[in-house]
Amino acid sequence: MKEDWISIILEEARSQGLTRQALAFPACGGKIDIDGKEILNFSSNDYLNLAHHPHVVDRSRQALEKYGVGATGSRLVTGTLPIHEELEARIAKEKGYPSALVFGSGYLANAGTIPVLAGRNDTIFADKLVHASMIDACRLSGAKLVRFAHNDFQSLESRLQEFPNLGNRQLILTESVFSMDGDLAPLKEIAALADQYGAMLMVDEAHASGTFGPHGAGLIRECGLENAVTVSMGTMSKAFGGYGGFIACSENLRKLLIQSARAFIFTTAPPPAVIGAALGTLDVLEASPNLGACLQANAAYFRELLQAGGLDTLQSESQIIPVVIGDNKKALAVSQKLREQGIIAAAIRPPTVPSGTARLRLSVSLAHTLDDLERAAELISKAVKNS
Ligand SMILES: Cc1ncc(COP(=O)(O)O)c(C=O)c1O
Repeated sequence: MKEDWISIILEEARSQGLTRQALAFPACGGKIDIDGKEILNFSSNDYLNLAHHPHVVDRSRQALEKYGVGATGSRLVTGTLPIHEELEARIAKEKGYPSALVFGSGYLANAGTIPVLAGRNDTIFADKLVHASMIDACRLSGAKLVRFAHNDFQSLESRLQEFPNLGNRQLILTESVFSMDGDLAPLKEIAALADQYGAMLMVDEAHASGTFGPHGAGLIRECGLENAVTVSMGTMSKAFGGYGGFIACSENLRKLLIQSARAFIFTTAPPPAVIGAALGTLDVLEASPNLGACLQANAAYFRELLQAGGLDTLQSESQIIPVVIGDNKKALAVSQKLREQGIIAAAIRPPTVPSGTARLRLSVSLAHTLDDLERAAELISKAVKNS
């Protein structure tokens, strides 16, 4: 009786084709083996195929053996280890900022940072498609949340004029590579508006870290905007192949976050093995600075193949390539059909994407060969056309 309401909600989701499942996968990465059959996985975020890289695994193992399985304390008590500090110094250097701070995940980096930058009397201007972790953080902050049209800096400017700065803080939020559309934000124009209107700017580089810019330093660095972007946020859970989040910022902001970011303070420090893995990834990116460029070249080739097969890939300019189907159940059926043909292409449905835009979210990985991309593009085009 007390839990009857749960079945009602679950049934409603089921009837709309919106049931979500956490299915167990036998392996991780862009190419996986299921019962002896090679499967091409276009739904992994291991873009650079680093989750199994011998050096990354080695550095992770070394940290595990040296420090044990857990950091055994929160960062402000006994959880900060020399490798946390080493990683923060490396991230700051890579990103071109005076300092950096590591969090337990990308979600926590956003949840911890945004409520420190803006509070009850302040205004946050967020792109319509920013990630749920940023939106949750905005709600946590208590600030007024104003949305602007996706990647539309003119819409941002009219919102800035509509809600002028009355002496309180203003914060603009965007992603550099959007997680579900794979398109790129007009960072230069947004940064110019932030400067003109005296607003702070925070950019989520979850999908640009490792995949764009020199040594995978991201799009902020590629555009030379380190001084114009107040906070550069990233994660170790996508191209880094591991887990954990971080921000790069000024020394003063780092000091303030250590004083007051609740998602940094009131949780155990990230475990040594994930910190070791991230250091390993940074070594690999330093030794092979072209990984991101190779990935983008393969992604451009895959996009061309899909477009030649009659598919619309929206404005994608990155390793993330959407193929919008629209209807939730149809998207699920196409995804299921492809699964039977050895292609994993997850159907992404509302509320992760706007209503009516259910899609296959395809992500290219360096685990895929050009042959793989050609075979997959043909199967995907056929499956969508026949849906
Ligand atoms: C744009 C964006 N920001 C933040 C996150 C959260 O990162 P993490 O998975 O490390 O918590 C994600 C991934 O889910 C993301 O796509």
